[in-house]
Amino acid sequence: MIFVGRRLIGAIGRTNGDADRSRLGLIRQFVVGDFEAHSLGTLVQRTLNCYASRPVEIAPEHPEDGPAIEHLLDLAFGPDRAGKTVYKLREGIPPVAELGFVIHDPAKPEIDGSLRFWPIVIGEERVPALLLGPIAVAPEDRGKGYAKALIWHGLGVARALGHRIVLLVGDAPYYEQFGFARALATNLTLPGWVDEARFLGLELVPGALSGVRGMVGRAA
Ligand SMILES: CC(C)(COP(=O)(O)OP(=O)(O)OC[C@H]1O[C@@H](n2cnc3c(N)ncnc32)[C@H](O)[C@@H]1OP(=O)(O)O)[C@@H](O)C(=O)NCCC(=O)NCCS
Repeated sequence: MIFVGRRLIGAIGRTNGDADRSRLGLIRQFVVGDFEAHSLGTLVQRTLNCYASRPVEIAPEHPEDGPAIEHLLDLAFGPDRAGKTVYKLREGIPPVAELGFVIHDPAKPEIDGSLRFWPIVIGEERVPALLLGPIAVAPEDRGKGYAKALIWHGLGVARALGHRIVLLVGDAPYYEQFGFARALATNLTLPGWVDEARFLGLELVPGALSGVRGMVGRAA
């Protein structure tokens, strides 16, 4: 697998947009296949550099990033975002520490984007899963592939850590590129109103959602 990773890394270096997109397709195969988290991270970084006009890096979130992330989330979702159904699943529960990432230009202090995941459980059997989000990119940095890179990176690390199921509430046309599907969440319900068409599931391990049904609940 390392060999495959190196081969792919070697292939990334040109800045042709179509080629970069097809390489993102190859990275996607890694998420549902066997891969090394480190190799995946490197691949995403290289691909991201092809997209962006300047060097940026994905880094683990640090506690001191908190205020900047809150500011980004206020800009993206507004200060009353905590009223949404998904926040019932997050309130009072910390995000998964290993799965908080920021994207930024090392030459400047600001954070350009943030991705977090929350732990959740499904049904009476309390099947563990992840809730993807919130994800936000600074308005001036949108459309550069930052969210895409953060999501691939996050999913790759999540799978490497042994997570099997990811759920989210978001726009299907955007999240389908990562393998999220409405069909994978039709046996699941959320503890409050959501537009059902936006409630999506992803199996990081094929078949992980088979037979899983019921209400999504808080992990604590
Ligand atoms: C959604 C968001 C995170 C995307 O960040 P980004 O870094 O601009 O995304 P990317 O550059 O990876 O992807 C941009 C591409 O996705 C498309 N896209 C973005 N949002 C989309 C949506 N809701 N539905 C369909 N396509 C979408 C863009 O048109 C663009 O397409 P292109 O590559 O063909 O030009 C960013 O717009 C944001 O922070 N929005 C406010 C917060 C938000 O809505 N978060 C998601 C909640 S579920």
